[in-house]
Amino acid sequence: MDDLRAWLSKVAEAGELKQVDGADWDLEIGCLAALNWAKPNPDALLFDNIEGYPKGFRVLTGSTSNARRVALTFNLPETSSAVELIDVFRRRLKEWEADCDKYRPVWVKSGPVMENVMRGDHVDLYKFPVPRWHEGDGGRYIGTGDAVITQDPDTGAPNMGTYRIMVQNGKTTALFIAQGKHGRIHYEKYHAQGKPCPVLVSVGHHPLVFRVASTEIPPAAEFNYAGAVMGEPMKVIREEVTGLPMPADSEIVIAGFCPPGKVMPEGPFGEWTGYYASGETPAPVIEVERVYYRNNPVIMGSPPGKAPSDSSYYRGIVTGALLYNDLEAAGVPDVKGVWMGEAANQMWVVVAIKQRYAGHAKQTAVLASQLARKGFFGRYVVVVDDDIDPTNLQEVLWAVCTRSDPEKDIDIIRRCWSTVMDPIIRKRPGQGHFNSRAIIDACKPFEWINEFPQEIKIDPALAARVKAKWKDVLG
Ligand SMILES: Cc1cc2nc3c(=O)[nH]c(=O)nc-3n(C[C@H](O)[C@H](O)[C@H](O)COP(=O)(O)O)c2cc1C
Repeated sequence: MDDLRAWLSKVAEAGELKQVDGADWDLEIGCLAALNWAKPNPDALLFDNIEGYPKGFRVLTGSTSNARRVALTFNLPETSSAVELIDVFRRRLKEWEADCDKYRPVWVKSGPVMENVMRGDHVDLYKFPVPRWHEGDGGRYIGTGDAVITQDPDTGAPNMGTYRIMVQNGKTTALFIAQGKHGRIHYEKYHAQGKPCPVLVSVGHHPLVFRVASTEIPPAAEFNYAGAVMGEPMKVIREEVTGLPMPADSEIVIAGFCPPGKVMPEGPFGEWTGYYASGETPAPVIEVERVYYRNNPVIMGSPPGKAPSDSSYYRGIVTGALLYNDLEAAGVPDVKGVWMGEAANQMWVVVAIKQRYAGHAKQTAVLASQLARKGFFGRYVVVVDDDIDPTNLQEVLWAVCTRSDPEKDIDIIRRCWSTVMDPIIRKRPGQGHFNSRAIIDACKPFEWINEFPQEIKIDPALAARVKAKWKDVLG
């Protein structure tokens, strides 16, 4: 399986890698990254010679912020179209899942990540140019595009999740994991037994590792999944203090334990909703015992922000593809398109269907509200007929405004799974977070679909004839 270095060479060859010399870890890297995403076709940015750090200690951002690099990362055919990419992903996600068992990680004795090891008193996370990404951040975040590796104490199955990691001091970090996520379930299980939870955090790696860790694929399948995508198992080393599988090709891996009962302030942090919504809260810590790193290590940066941001492009595609497959697997027939656009991602879900029976639209909407991102933190679901392009906001709004009647076509589902990151929730410590989902049936009413007013359309033959005749008017 390629490592990050091989990926960087391919991206450089494709002319999509920009080297940035001399930026400051304190806000400049974060600001440059954010301004880069706002460009129509953002580059991957590799920061080197970072203020106060030796040459070679690098930070990467924008790794998968366009269709070409997403395709390159996942070994997919090249395309520039998000809709095509969703379609390809849909098919491949099923194949990769089916192949997972064939690609269990292989244990190796050593690998590039072992080139340097800091132990005990020598551990110092400030050795790396950890950015302060946003002006309102409460600290420097080493984990943004990371893979946090934990294991279920009951089954021993390892999990990788992307959870943000804030440096507290050279030897301690805070860990922010939303309620219900697998890493959190793991530490809660260890803590319930009064035991420290072993943790590894890979903070630099091939972007595939990050993208698999940050995607809602079946629990505990991430290592196998990454192998299935590459067509080659991941190589892992048994880390000496935690016993957890450490990706042998990682750039930097932090190893330690998250002790029960110990918390430190974490946040605020600029989140993907575009707000610092979760504020500062007490969070579990990782007491770091080892740091492994390659020569000239690269931190995988993927700071969130108001979209477009580092992950918004990829998330829109992959979460849409996952939802499409999950709706089909739940038995919803004739789904014709799914879109969770970049601006609001899972908070704005549009599903297009070919209506087959009374109640088909409502069934689709209810299920989509709970299956999108596996039920975590949604807001609006709109179901439209298949003549509407779900990716076209103008058309979707037209359907909502002309085919739905609020009184009968909008339903509210209450007390759903939300999060401290939800900006609309006024925070009450220790209470958990619920929110509601609005589901909007913007399909033509099924019971009189054939009597629904005729739409104004121009016949394509007429349009072509008129265009040809009136070239000077239409240009
Ligand atoms: C850039 C990025 C940062 C993320 N940060 C967090 C985070 O700090 N905490 C969290 O709970 N989920 C975060 N997520 C979402 C999880 O990584 C995602 O839901 C993943 O599937 C969790 O893994 P799990 O299902 O094995 O728990 C982030 C996702 C991305 C793309």
